[in-house]
Amino acid sequence: MPSNPFLNSFTHTNQRTPIWLMRQAGRYMADYRRIREKYSLLEMVKTPELACEITLQPIKTFGLDAAIIFADILPLLEGMGFRLEFLKGEGPKIDNPIRSMTDIEKLRFTPATECLAFTLNTIRLVRRELDKYNIPLIGFSGAPFTLASYAIEGGSSKDQSLTKQFIHTHPEHWHMFMEKLSLMIADYLLAQAQAGAQVLQIFDSWAGALSPFDYEIYVMPHLQKIIEITKKSEVPLIYFSTGTSGFLDIIKKLNVNAFSIDWRIDIKNAWQTLGTNKTLQGNLDPNLLFAPWSELKKHTEQIINQVCSIHPDKKGFIFNLGHGILQKTPEDQVKRLVDFVKSN
Ligand code: CP3
Repeated sequence: MPSNPFLNSFTHTNQRTPIWLMRQAGRYMADYRRIREKYSLLEMVKTPELACEITLQPIKTFGLDAAIIFADILPLLEGMGFRLEFLKGEGPKIDNPIRSMTDIEKLRFTPATECLAFTLNTIRLVRRELDKYNIPLIGFSGAPFTLASYAIEGGSSKDQSLTKQFIHTHPEHWHMFMEKLSLMIADYLLAQAQAGAQVLQIFDSWAGALSPFDYEIYVMPHLQKIIEITKKSEVPLIYFSTGTSGFLDIIKKLNVNAFSIDWRIDIKNAWQTLGTNKTLQGNLDPNLLFAPWSELKKHTEQIINQVCSIHPDKKGFIFNLGHGILQKTPEDQVKRLVDFVKSN
């Protein structure tokens, strides 16, 4: 593939700031809703032709610098024995969540080539299509803590309270659970790289629920193991987390190529803590896409100015949101943002 600003950002050789948006394919797009009317989320994810088409929708509409495979972090849990559903208006539900130590002992390992073959097939399909656009494909997985929180809470949770109670009541079983999850995750990430993913992102959306101490003891060793295994693929790795600005000095120890941060910290501060030799991704508040253009532009410029105060040529920076794009986001605002960042 000829040189691309997103891939070049991992070697700090990008000539301009690349941009892609977390959850860039989804309900805010009319094209997506047209398909969603006919199929459930899991049907779309598990049908490679549909998932391929949806992956490409935001690429065709907005001209982003990278595609992210249309999938979800939760189907991996099915391969371990969890029953997953997405209920209308309620989000994900797991009807056999972890309630006892024996539930953890019963969990199984299934290779990604068996239980997540649909996403690996989507990756192969998308890669063929992307040759036309000269942009790379990002594969991803949930991080073990974030996945464990769904498996223990039985769905989305505001405070990960049951998960934290489990950690502190059954630390040994917690570690056993994290080890089982980590083997599934590492195998899935490697399989995605083999299928053609050119960058891999690990989503640790709820890591910020933890204290720095708990993160370091109960989460970090498992992430390090995943990273160590996944490094064999030589594909750049991005670690995404939110709410973690209070312990970036710990997160910094993860041996990944790039960190993705949210808006709760200014980017200059974050970059200095994480190491300015690393690639940094972030960190616009997705709510700004609802603001008048003048306000959205001001905040976008502010991020870019801060980046310039670290690296005046903006090398090693990837523009993104601090978390996923919101459901009612106006598409014309997305287009304006993408055009503006690309011209900067
Ligand atoms: O970025 C992309 O375009 C790829 C698609 C993608 C989805 N999920 C599709 C999806 C990605 C990268 C994810 C990751 C994901 N899934 C995360 C980590 C990122 C984050 O946002 O924190 C998490 C925590 C999940 C779990 C999940 N999936 C939840 C909590 C929900 C329900 C909430 C919601 O947004 O509706 C989902 C459903 C989901 N995954 C949708 C999409 C497009 C909405 C499905 C619909 O059309 O009803």
